[in-house]
Amino acid sequence: MFAPLARPEVQALRVSQIREVANSALGRSDVLAFWFGESDQPTPAFIRDAAAEALGEGRTFYTHNLGRADLRDQLSAYLSGLHGRDIPVSRVAVTNSGVSALMLAAQAVVSPGDRVVVVTPVWPNVAEIPRILSATLATVSLQPDQGRWRLDLDRLFNALTPDTRALFLNSPNNPTGWTLPAEDRAAVLARCRDLGIWLVADDVYERLNFGPEASAPSFLPLGDDGDRLISVNSFSKAWRMTGWRLGWMVAPPALMDSLGVLLEYNTSCAPDFIQAAAVVALRDGEPHMAGLRAELAAAKDQVLGALRQMPGVEAPEPDGGMYAFFRIDGCADSMALARTLIAEAGLGLAPGGAFGEEGEGWLRWCFAARPEKNAAGLDRLRGFLSR
Ligand SMILES: Cc1ncc(COP(=O)(O)O)c(C=O)c1O
Repeated sequence: MFAPLARPEVQALRVSQIREVANSALGRSDVLAFWFGESDQPTPAFIRDAAAEALGEGRTFYTHNLGRADLRDQLSAYLSGLHGRDIPVSRVAVTNSGVSALMLAAQAVVSPGDRVVVVTPVWPNVAEIPRILSATLATVSLQPDQGRWRLDLDRLFNALTPDTRALFLNSPNNPTGWTLPAEDRAAVLARCRDLGIWLVADDVYERLNFGPEASAPSFLPLGDDGDRLISVNSFSKAWRMTGWRLGWMVAPPALMDSLGVLLEYNTSCAPDFIQAAAVVALRDGEPHMAGLRAELAAAKDQVLGALRQMPGVEAPEPDGGMYAFFRIDGCADSMALARTLIAEAGLGLAPGGAFGEEGEGWLRWCFAARPEKNAAGLDRLRGFLSR
């Protein structure tokens, strides 16, 4: 008899600790949950209406592997405007979510045994996807330093060895909010160029930056058609469309045919009526975006400000994203603390260990919630800590 089990790499995958915590208390009305990375508000009505209209028109068929021409045109115009550099349609592919774009990028460039460098702590999928493809992972960790997160570029460059195949870099980073400064980007890209390393940039939070700029710094203005550069992005966070499962990627024109083939064998294409809604989201979405950005900036100040007033709490300032990543003096086991907070305070947070061992001892709070909900959660944590 042969055991009916998955490949060893798949068996070795860790169950998401965020899910483990959430599943243990999902649906409990006495728990205020901040564990998932999504807004507590539904998708704006004008986007939902556009999808309903497209469904009404019977747009229920397969589309081109790389996405509908009108959506790719719209993405090309949106990205070119945002980054001040022509991003032609020939570099844009529509995907069935950001996570699917990450998987496609990895399938396109990572072979079994390849060395992949990941900056951590990071959303678990960024590290687990190369592992599914039997890559060998090396991590470079961010460090809290005087109230902010920092990446030591020398450590990153030491990790980017000549035998490295790809660097997966998520900025603004989930969970820390760390953002690779514009002035460091050219050096990172140059190092990857010199060594032929693929740079896979997870830009899902690029619009959720807290500065005055319309976007967090990006590699797109720096890269040329010939660069081994892939930018992965999504409608999930910035347009409040998590449940729709729609994303995109910008890749070298030379990779596009391969991505089309991979798309065919993964999902074939994204749903037509959802792509129709995405065209409208991009075209008419900036007023919504401005509102979301202002709400998140206010929520960030509310939650981070309150956390820092609590005894024994360290809460570095995020540059972008929708998370507070903080630690409480004496916490070494974030999973145990997350469970205790559910049981004793009715507060649902994600354990930092979910984001890699560098996140152990920390907790993540998604503050993309109404101010009253954040305030009630903060009260619960304050009460817990004062006991
Ligand atoms: C860093 C990062 N990348 C990608 C994604 C994927 O987003 P989606 O698959 O919903 O498009 C997420 C979602 O949490 C994320 O945090």
